[in-house]
Formats: sequence, C-alpha cells, structure tokens
Amino acid sequence: MGKTILIKNGTVVTATDKYQADILIEEEKIKTIGKSLDYPTDRIIDAKDKYIFPGGIDPHTHMELPFMGTFASDTFETGTLAGLYGGTTTIIDFAIQSQGESLRKALDLWHKKADGNAVCDYAFHMGVTDFNKNTKAEIKNICLQDGITSFKVFMAYKGALMVDDRQIIGLMKESRKYGALVISHCENGDMVDELVSEAKSNGNLSPRYHYLTRPEIAETEATGRIIDMAYQGNHPLYIVHLTCEGALNRVREATKRNQKVNVETCIQYLLLDESLYESPGFEGSKWIMSPPLRKEKDRIALWEGIKQGLVHTVATDHCPFCMNQKEMGKNDFSKIPNGIPGIENRMELLFSEGVLKGKISLNKFVELTSTAAAKIFGIFPKKGTIAPGSDADIVIFDPNIKHIISSKTHHQNCDYSAYEGWSVTGKTNTVILRGNIVIENGKASVQKGYGKYIARAPYNTELTEERIKQPVHA
Ligand code: URP
Ligand code: ZN
Ligand code: ZN
Repeated sequence: MGKTILIKNGTVVTATDKYQADILIEEEKIKTIGKSLDYPTDRIIDAKDKYIFPGGIDPHTHMELPFMGTFASDTFETGTLAGLYGGTTTIIDFAIQSQGESLRKALDLWHKKADGNAVCDYAFHMGVTDFNKNTKAEIKNICLQDGITSFKVFMAYKGALMVDDRQIIGLMKESRKYGALVISHCENGDMVDELVSEAKSNGNLSPRYHYLTRPEIAETEATGRIIDMAYQGNHPLYIVHLTCEGALNRVREATKRNQKVNVETCIQYLLLDESLYESPGFEGSKWIMSPPLRKEKDRIALWEGIKQGLVHTVATDHCPFCMNQKEMGKNDFSKIPNGIPGIENRMELLFSEGVLKGKISLNKFVELTSTAAAKIFGIFPKKGTIAPGSDADIVIFDPNIKHIISSKTHHQNCDYSAYEGWSVTGKTNTVILRGNIVIENGKASVQKGYGKYIARAPYNTELTEERIKQPVHA
C-alpha cells in the first residue's frame, strides 16, 4: 500500500448525495468510502462538523493573460495558490492564439507559463482569434493529442480577439468532428465598438461609460446569434460568463426547440451590480470587466436560471489587474484593462450567499462549483466527485467560520479585492490535491509546480457512461 490518509467523521457532499462517512486515500486516489473505517494509515484527519466537498473546478481563468497592453497580475503560481486557499483544485485557463499566429504557438506559450509553476491542476481551453485554413488543420491534433476539447471564440474585442460569424461556423464544424465544444464570449463587438467611439467623441471618459457602452442588448443579441449558429449545424455550445436576463432568455427560448446550451455565469454577476460603477472618482475601475456587472433584475434572473437548470457552472473569469494597471485608463475608460480577481473567493462566497441564504442546496453548490464543469469539460469522474477511483481532490470545509474578505489577507496577486469588507460564513480548512495535503488548517504547504496538466476527453454526452467505466487519465 502506498501513502495513505484517512479522513474521519466528515459529512461527504457530492452533486447528488450527503452522508456521514470516512474516506481512505491511497496515493493520488480515493480508495474506499465507508462507515467507521479503521486502517493503519500515514495520516488521520478528523473532519467532525465539517463538510467534505470534491475539489472545486474553476472552468474560466486567465493567469498572466497578455491583455490591453499589460498582463493579468496573477501568475500560474500565485493564482493557483490563491485558488487552493479557496478550495479550487483544478482550473481551466485559456491559451489564446495571437491573430496571425498558430494555435500551437499559443499552446506552447501557455505550457511554458504553467508547467513547473502551477500548484493546482490545470487544463486549457484554446482561444481561437483567427480561424483560417491553417488553424483549421491544427484542431484535430489539439483535440486528440493535447486533450484540449473546447475552443473559445470572442464575439467582442474588435481589432484584437474578435472573430466573425463565418469563422465561428467554420470552427464549429471542425470542432464537432472531434467531439469538441465551441465556447463563446457573447457581446456584439461592432455594437460595442460604435458605442465606445460615440462616448469618447462626446467626451464621456469615466469608468461608468464602460458599463454604458456594453448594454444588455449587445450580449443578448450575440448570445442569440451564436445559439442559432450552433442550432443550424447541430453543434454543442457553452456560453461563458453569461450575465443578464436577456441573454438567459435566448437560452430559454432555445430549449423550446430541444436545443441544449451549456451556460456559465460567474460569482460576481450573482453578487454584485452596476451601482458599483457609480463609485466616486476612479474607484469604479475595480469592477471593469466584460461583460460588465448588470442590474438587480439580472442577478435575480441568474439565481432563478440556476434553479431552472439553465445555468450550469459558476466560474470566476479570474483576470486581475492591480490599480496601477487599471490606471492605464485613468483618462479613458476604454483603456482600463478588463478583468477582476475572484478565484480565492468563489466557493466561500457561493456557499455563504447561496447555500446559507437558501438560494441553492448543498448538492447544487457542489454541482455548480465542481461536478458540472468536470462533466462538460471531459474530466469526470477523475475530477468533480468523491468516489472510489477518482482523484483524491478534497476540500474539508468548516461551515461555521465567519471571516471578512480583504486584499490585506487574500493571496491573489492584486492590491484590491472586488469583495472588500464582505462578511462570509464558511471557510476552506484543509485541501487535498491528488492525495497530498496542500492546505492544512488554512496554511499552504505545496511545492511550486505540484499542479499537473490534465488532458481532457471529448464533449459528448453519449460517452458519459464509457467515461464512468473508464476514468479519464492524463
Ligand atoms: O473582462 C474580462 N472578462 N476579462 C477577461 C477576458 C474575457 O473576456 O474573458
Ligand atoms: Zn470573455
Ligand atoms: Zn474570460
């Protein structure tokens, strides 16, 4: 028998069950789950009065993203460590092609940043910013050899990342051959671009104009458009960071013709709103992201969308910039780098604001933070659940600890918190990643580079049973 850990007396919570049990971990895997297990092991952890969740999966992060003339301030090392502190044991980051360059070049670059540095496990989506005959020819190997089975398009960021509809359709057709998902940032980039030019020519340059120039209709239109493109060709689709009622209604309408659309929202869109853009001076820049925060009615629609099964994952879109970086847009909102920090707070906030306030059940919490992402992105049941044979990625969570979120105490490499001063109940106590204790009683003990690259299986719901019989291994 290899290295063993026994977790005793905890309450195990998965996306479907909640029960008292002990968990035996051997090497990297969960070996046995049962009542009153009694084995001689290397370590025993008492989890009395604590929940045992599967390690969180954040399917949307941007570590060290080169963007808008600067780089997201968390490296793979700092950002994934912050993730572990908050109970996230796997991230899916975006390797983004530069226009005119190959997908392979982007992927090599992202591996260079992550390999040997990340402390939690990681996979990649591929961001396609230039779909042409060369890119098309790369899709097969990226899927089948590299295990990257989701390709992202940006319908916004005109002149930088945005692609046109013809490219999206071409990418959908090619991806589908290999069971890959197209995933999409939905905003009408031309509409936004026109509104930004108009605001600037009228001398409207403060942070609030970021919000005013990216209206709900721009997201609703683009969401409906890509859903229609996917429907026309019978292609699978995942929408990232959906923020608003209008876009959600396009998803809802698609269900009436039996179209399944996978939807992600982010914790900030559930908890924060556009009133923050009225903060004094340049303060509103802290929440400049795309799409922007929305209105109260949109937050309500998203919580309801979760209950209705229309929203499947809660991510972060973690893409932090320090205040001196935000200040690049001091005199022009369109130059403020887009993105906010959040990886460390996602699970604790969703637990405190969602579970404890009666908006979602404990099982739903696990589904939203871990299981659904694992299933959609082809790493289930290796990740995303607590079951014999799965990776021993485990969060021991104390539901009673109250704490205050602050940039003074967080581990994200960002000099502000989007949730400064929020009082939260429930805290990650101990985290195990592939059988190693990486956070114990709130303190990290993990070697730089411990995180492992995870190759993913194709998106194909028909294959789910096969995957259960034959776990996906990197
Ligand atoms: O503002 C955001 N969301 N920044 C990161 C890039 C993206 O659009 O996901
Ligand atoms: Zn985006
Ligand atoms: Zn993003």
